[in-house]
Amino acid sequence: MPHLVARNLTKSFDGVRAVDQVSFAIPDGAFLALLGPSGCGKTTLLRMIAGLEDPDAGELLFDDVAVAGPRGTLPPEARRLGMVFQSYALWPHMTVRGNIEFGLKVQKLPAAERRRRIEEVLEVVGLSGHAARRPHELSGGQRQRVALARSLALRPGLILLDEPLANLDAHLRETMLAEFRRIHSMTGATFVFVTHDQEEAMAVATHVAVMNRGRLEQVGTPEDLYRRPQTESVARFIGRGRTLPVEVMASQDGLCTIALAGGVLKVAGLAPPGPGWLCFHASDLSRAPQRGPFAGEVVNQLFQNGVYATELAPLGVDVETVSLALPERLAPGTRIEVGLSGGWVIARAPSAAPALTGAAARSSA
Ligand SMILES: Nc1ncnc2c1ncn2[C@@H]1O[C@H](COP(=O)(O)OP(=O)(O)OP(=O)(O)O)[C@@H](O)[C@H]1O
Ligand SMILES: [Mg+2]
Repeated sequence: MPHLVARNLTKSFDGVRAVDQVSFAIPDGAFLALLGPSGCGKTTLLRMIAGLEDPDAGELLFDDVAVAGPRGTLPPEARRLGMVFQSYALWPHMTVRGNIEFGLKVQKLPAAERRRRIEEVLEVVGLSGHAARRPHELSGGQRQRVALARSLALRPGLILLDEPLANLDAHLRETMLAEFRRIHSMTGATFVFVTHDQEEAMAVATHVAVMNRGRLEQVGTPEDLYRRPQTESVARFIGRGRTLPVEVMASQDGLCTIALAGGVLKVAGLAPPGPGWLCFHASDLSRAPQRGPFAGEVVNQLFQNGVYATELAPLGVDVETVSLALPERLAPGTRIEVGLSGGWVIARAPSAAPALTGAAARSSA
């Protein structure tokens, strides 16, 4: 039984759909990253899960029980969830202990139980010695851990985090990501984590949901999104993938026979015969000793991490350039044959969805 199910969730503001018919099912204990450019609807979706926003249409279920939908909505406090924001939202005048204890008092837990839980969550987030400090006496990362501890103390089944690392520097973000992952596996709670940052999402999540202009483009494991994208924009967005237009001639048992640059080859995929996209990453391409699926001319090269990151203009293919790593320096204009390992074929719809652009696309660079 999935823990978190959304069915056609929709929410508009002033006639504009911020979240547009979003559906997914997330297993218990998952770490779901919600990924997408600014304004694509991530916070709105999270707020609907939290109960801070009512959907206009669609349904939301926790453990098969409707919490929002046509039969009304359950208020946030009845949803057994915790929320952590980018801004921490700690009480500045209260100690760490006071901040954590606040929600436990609201729940009218006895003093001994409150003390036990505070010690427990401070241990989990690694701040046992800091109970008496006030927020201004803590670093940004420590404050974020207090915010998380405050949520965990209520023992929620679901923790919602809206860009919790956005205010931290790059080094601290990495440390905190590892911490979140560790805390996630210690608690067994389901985490939903909103981020702009693709590397962050792919590194920590068990499931990634890619949103684009209010719509859910794809939800799956990080490997699914990387190796088996379902849309052209996901293919191009995740890991800076590339797509080449191809003609699918036949499709059988998960293999597509495609026509590319005057040749024919077989590549994994489920696309039906017709126009298709061949999706791949730079790491799938290499220089082939004999004739490969296509040839190209070197445009330029950068020496990076011990290899030559090469931009290549494919010949006989309707695309400007592709990238691959080569072991040697080659003069611009040099013609090479390209080998392809891996790759994935999807159908090419006549009216493609708008591409993923903006901050999220840049952050993958
Ligand atoms: N309360 C509101 N009133 C009017 N419009 C809103 C409201 N909240 C969000 N929107 C609009 O809905 C769309 C989605 O906003 P949302 O905050 O969900 O995006 P986001 O993906 O979280 O973006 P960011 O990455 O910048 O935080 C945006 O166009 C936004 O302007
Ligand atoms: Mg947001």
